[in-house]
Amino acid sequence: MQKLINLLVTQIKDKNQIKDLEDKLIIEKINKYFLTNGDIRKKLEKEFLKKENKIIKSKLFKEILKIIRKEIGIIYGSFLTSDFDKREKYLNQANTLEETQSMLKLHKSTRERVDYYNEIYNKIFEWKKPKKIADLCCGLNPISISLMKEILNYTPKYFASDINPKDMEFMQLFFNKFKIKGTAKSYDLTKLEIIENKQFKDCDMVFLFKALDSLEFIKKNCTKELILKIPSKNIVVSFPTKSLVSKKEFKIEKRNWFIKFIEENNFKYERFEIENELFFLIEK
Ligand SMILES: C[S@@+](CC[C@H](N)C(=O)[O-])C[C@H]1O[C@@H](n2cnc3c(N)ncnc32)[C@H](O)[C@@H]1O
Repeated sequence: MQKLINLLVTQIKDKNQIKDLEDKLIIEKINKYFLTNGDIRKKLEKEFLKKENKIIKSKLFKEILKIIRKEIGIIYGSFLTSDFDKREKYLNQANTLEETQSMLKLHKSTRERVDYYNEIYNKIFEWKKPKKIADLCCGLNPISISLMKEILNYTPKYFASDINPKDMEFMQLFFNKFKIKGTAKSYDLTKLEIIENKQFKDCDMVFLFKALDSLEFIKKNCTKELILKIPSKNIVVSFPTKSLVSKKEFKIEKRNWFIKFIEENNFKYERFEIENELFFLIEK
């Protein structure tokens, strides 16, 4: 039924924002869905055999499309602005690192904190001064390295990671263009393979900005295992206090599981809040 899967992939990618998402990641989601919904798979396959070319009009096909698109939206697509695919053009036009800051507006998470970066990095770097940062589920946050440099008075080394290989190719181009000692590599963080990466192992500060909700949505409790296995002692975790999509406020109680987890492990921590975002500075 490879033909059916391919058709699902093409239809799912027929949304501008996720057109660059690697097929492999979409196929994984489809297979996972069919694994837990075997009866739906059989029904769809039967329909496909009967009316191959018209399957995209079928109610069942459309429903499955909607479910998988929603999941991909929650973990990836909904954070991208409609201009996200202009990032390479922006990078080509930027002559200095400072000029890249306008690119922060191409991803909703960085766009939202653009006016607060100074405050955020002042707080973080007053707490600890890193030599090498690992930015996980990074989105476009590594582009804010010029703002880090302003506060630290030096450019930290960098390791950036997010789920889509194409996005990490772009991030590597950014590091190379401005001669930043940085590596970008894609990982699905729910799988923990990143722990073995040599470039990741020697980072002395890890950023997990607005990352835990997406990861927990895919695999409950995986972020606890990740935090316990991260080699660096210093980890900065942030949570949105408002939904990026619906703007609905999240109650602080929603984060109690996380506070309980860091307290149970006797990690030292401080916290601070800016508009729409709550930060935890954690020392393991
Ligand atoms: C809300 S955005 C935050 C982006 C960035 N950390 C920031 O705050 O500016 C969440 C990010 O997590 C990434 N992501 C979601 N699921 C992931 C996974 N399983 N592995 C790695 N990255 C993932 C998404 O691609 C997205 O860039």
